[in-house]
Amino acid sequence: MITPLGREDISAVSSLTFPAYRFLLEQAIADNKSEETVIALVARSAGTPVGLVLARYSVTDGSSPDAEHPQQLALLSVMTDLLWRRCGVATSLLQALKEEGWRLGFQRLKVGYTTKMESLAAFEHLLASTGWSAPQPSMHLSLFRVSDMQKASWQGFALSRPRGYELFPLSELRDEESARLKAGVAAGDIPEGLSPFADEEYLVPELSVGIRFGKDVVAWMTLIRSPFISDALCYRSFFVHPAMRTANGFGALVAREAFYLHAASHIREERPNGVFGTSCNAIKQLNFARKRLFPYCHEIYESRRTTLLLQKEAMKPMKEAITL
Ligand SMILES: CC(C)(COP(=O)(O)OP(=O)(O)OC[C@H]1O[C@@H](n2cnc3c(N)ncnc32)[C@H](O)[C@@H]1OP(=O)(O)O)[C@@H](O)C(=O)NCCC(=O)NCCS
Repeated sequence: MITPLGREDISAVSSLTFPAYRFLLEQAIADNKSEETVIALVARSAGTPVGLVLARYSVTDGSSPDAEHPQQLALLSVMTDLLWRRCGVATSLLQALKEEGWRLGFQRLKVGYTTKMESLAAFEHLLASTGWSAPQPSMHLSLFRVSDMQKASWQGFALSRPRGYELFPLSELRDEESARLKAGVAAGDIPEGLSPFADEEYLVPELSVGIRFGKDVVAWMTLIRSPFISDALCYRSFFVHPAMRTANGFGALVAREAFYLHAASHIREERPNGVFGTSCNAIKQLNFARKRLFPYCHEIYESRRTTLLLQKEAMKPMKEAITL
């Protein structure tokens, strides 16, 4: 049987999602809904929780069904108790989520995940058997110890910046600079995913680096506390203004300064590692990462994403779905 999460379930189901998402369980049962809505569905056998699916949408990022577009509900996690795996629990949970998504007016489910996860084969099989599109690679993720990155040969080369360009920590971003950057994101000049404000709730501004010239901030590397890798800072948004991309070495400058700040900071004790994400479509950035970063990384993996179209016919109960 699959039912919405109840308050009495919370302690029993918290092991059925990733630590980074456990705080969302309270949000899923809250009466006063915030801008972000969490859907939590529990699979039970004789009343005992054996599986959990979590999904989320927000009224601020345009993913709510009331927003004009895109109408996508994000699948955050689906997990089955070890003793109940390969019994159809996750299949039934995804079917229930599809029905809930359809009922709320969503057109699609979406999910992002990495190839580092232990249950990769099982999860990709589950996605394929429940009708999701073929997963597409989105990012190369490389893991390194910041102490190793400091030894990188290119770090020692003279990297000078032209006169008038100032390197600064983003904790010193001025209000007018912030406003101009936000206007740039709104106008589409700065891709949202590479904005210095992306994942702002996890941002470590004192270790994130920008280059300013006059009124403009023309390059940055932001560092966030990775919500998924507890001993790493994530090198999140790496951007150089298109006009500054030729031979100025601004990318290397902000990266080097960020590595230096990370290595020198007290946060290094708690998070000695770094994870650097490079979009699979960003050829220049990928070349930068291949040449300057990958040789100093101890692990390189991939993030993937896929979607599921919620169509009326897909809402019919699946023949194969197992009734728990
Ligand atoms: C991924 C996971 C949720 C699958 O749960 P489950 O309840 O065992 O899945 P189901 O029994 O519904 O199986 C779904 C399909 O995957 C297949 N499958 C399940 N485990 C598999 C495995 N280890 N290897 C290959 N295929 C597997 C099943 O055979 C089934 O395929 P079919 O429909 O063609 O017969 C489970 O392994 C798990 O909880 N993993 C840990 C959490 C996790 O990583 N979640 C995914 C990221 S959010």
